[in-house]
Amino acid sequence: MPDTRLSVASIAAALGPLAPRFDVDVVAEVESTNSLLLARAESSPSGAVLVGERQTAGRGRMGRRWHAEPDASLTFSLLYKLPRGAVPSGLSLAVGVAIAEALRELGVAGVALKWPNDILRDGRKLGGVLIELAGSAAVIGIGLNLRLPADLPDDVKAVAAALDVDLERNEFLARLLAALHGVLEAFGAGGFAALRDRWLRLNAYAGAPVRVISEFAVPVEGICMGVDVDGALLLETAVCVQRIVSGDVSLRPA
Ligand code: BTN
Repeated sequence: MPDTRLSVASIAAALGPLAPRFDVDVVAEVESTNSLLLARAESSPSGAVLVGERQTAGRGRMGRRWHAEPDASLTFSLLYKLPRGAVPSGLSLAVGVAIAEALRELGVAGVALKWPNDILRDGRKLGGVLIELAGSAAVIGIGLNLRLPADLPDDVKAVAAALDVDLERNEFLARLLAALHGVLEAFGAGGFAALRDRWLRLNAYAGAPVRVISEFAVPVEGICMGVDVDGALLLETAVCVQRIVSGDVSLRPA
């Protein structure tokens, strides 16, 4: 991906008619775009976007750190104020649909989704989504690897993927925001149920044996049967089809 600076004007130009739907801010360095946008959530409009060239304390799910080299990644957060009556269940899956479909449209091969929030390329992690709520405001944080640094340790290299597409970063971000706009309109009107079929088409582990590890329960193993209308994972175990609402999924070796 050509290494141009991110700029508000270039992102607006690339967004074209959708530009008024977003209020974009680009900062050179920030602890975490999610943390700062959360702090600004009350005073910011839905559609506020914070892009960080560099995050010094990027955060991932389940209290993990999110490491991203400047120039080698795209890290941004989008504020989405849920319409009255809407519930956030399945929002991270809906966001995954937007990102994965946009990447496929850009010609990126091998893109799929791993429940609940990983974007995979050829089975390796290309990016992740971290959603944090403040009342009816959701901060949607997205981190994507544009390139893999050459000095990455082997164990990380084995599970990480990068885009390596020839697209200018402002243009790329605008394409992602446009896709998010469409998906969030559908989500606001019909919840995750309106996007479930699209998620199922992108499910990396459809019909595969998986193990689910969660912070609060013993690990469960079963066959990945997809997701329910609220985004819960459907896992066929030896005894029943179990609904799982949080956890980490990994492929179980055959
Ligand atoms: C995960 O896979 O655990 C989710 C990673 C989400 C990382 C993004 S980068 C932009 C935003 N700001 C953060 O601190 N985290 C999210």
